[in-house]
Amino acid sequence: MLNLDPALYATSRSFLEERERIFSRTWQLIGPASRLPEPGSYVATELAGLKLFVLRGRDGALRAFRNVCRHRGARLLEEGTGRCAGPVRCPYHNWSYDDQGRLVAMPWFGEEASFRKEDWPLHQIQLREWRGLVFIAFAPEQELEAQLGELVAELAGEPIETYQAVREERLVFDANWKIYTDNFVEGYHIPGIHPNFFQAIEFKRFETTAHDGFVRMTAPPREGLFYRGKWLWMWPNWTLSLFDGGMNTSRINPLDHQRTELIYNFYFADPSRTNAIEDTIQRNLAVVREDFGICIETHKNYANGSYSAGPLSPHHEAGVRYFQDKVRKSLSLA
Ligand code: FES
Ligand SMILES: [Fe+2]
Repeated sequence: MLNLDPALYATSRSFLEERERIFSRTWQLIGPASRLPEPGSYVATELAGLKLFVLRGRDGALRAFRNVCRHRGARLLEEGTGRCAGPVRCPYHNWSYDDQGRLVAMPWFGEEASFRKEDWPLHQIQLREWRGLVFIAFAPEQELEAQLGELVAELAGEPIETYQAVREERLVFDANWKIYTDNFVEGYHIPGIHPNFFQAIEFKRFETTAHDGFVRMTAPPREGLFYRGKWLWMWPNWTLSLFDGGMNTSRINPLDHQRTELIYNFYFADPSRTNAIEDTIQRNLAVVREDFGICIETHKNYANGSYSAGPLSPHHEAGVRYFQDKVRKSLSLA
């Protein structure tokens, strides 16, 4: 089995196609629902370049909307988290929308007989909550639980919704999102790229298996490793790794075809253990950052035409194969 065609990693055309055929049609992890604690709380973010926000209404319900004003298309809310005391007001010409996305005011617009406010609500996006995590989708091909597949059973015994989200970190690097994903779903690179991590696990017993909706990687940890020895990656672009008494999640979000952001969240059963938590987060981020250099340089070789697809390891790269098969299928290449 060969690696994906390198041309798929290096053009803005393939990025636009993936946006249409992968990112718009799948459920995307936004983060923990607890980041939206009260009416008016919002998270504004991008999904493969498409702007959206999630807002908790006065009725307590979460709703997601395109972060695009219906007047002349301005961004309504700056990316990040915050709280709207009143309606969502566009910074451009002050149109405002209520917590259900209805246009409620357009000061100084003038009179026009045919104009009806109710014809111009924000575009709403589908939203689901699953075990304390918020997901959204523009045009999903299946229900969230169907996309999660066997992950639902995999995590049934883990009390993930009882953990408290304590930190969000955003990391950006210059490589295609699939290069980072290929790297995430194999442990083959651990001896080469993560020497300390390599010492902290029984690498000979590293196992990677692909399941409906996700890839599971496991290895017995040695004493002192902050990871519990189980790492999960879910189609198409989110991850969940377990700690003792906690976990992280990440979303692998393409900014364009050659730049990617990771949005990490860290969750702990006992958030009062601040020193231990800080230590775990920093050690975890150090491992994550160790992958950037190799991804950046690999991207250059894919982009400059000097690489043609090579063979994948039958033992270690089953996750890469699973991910790439899903990409091929989504893009009608297989
Ligand atoms: S673009 Fe939003 S009010 Fe004009
Ligand atoms: Fe790595």
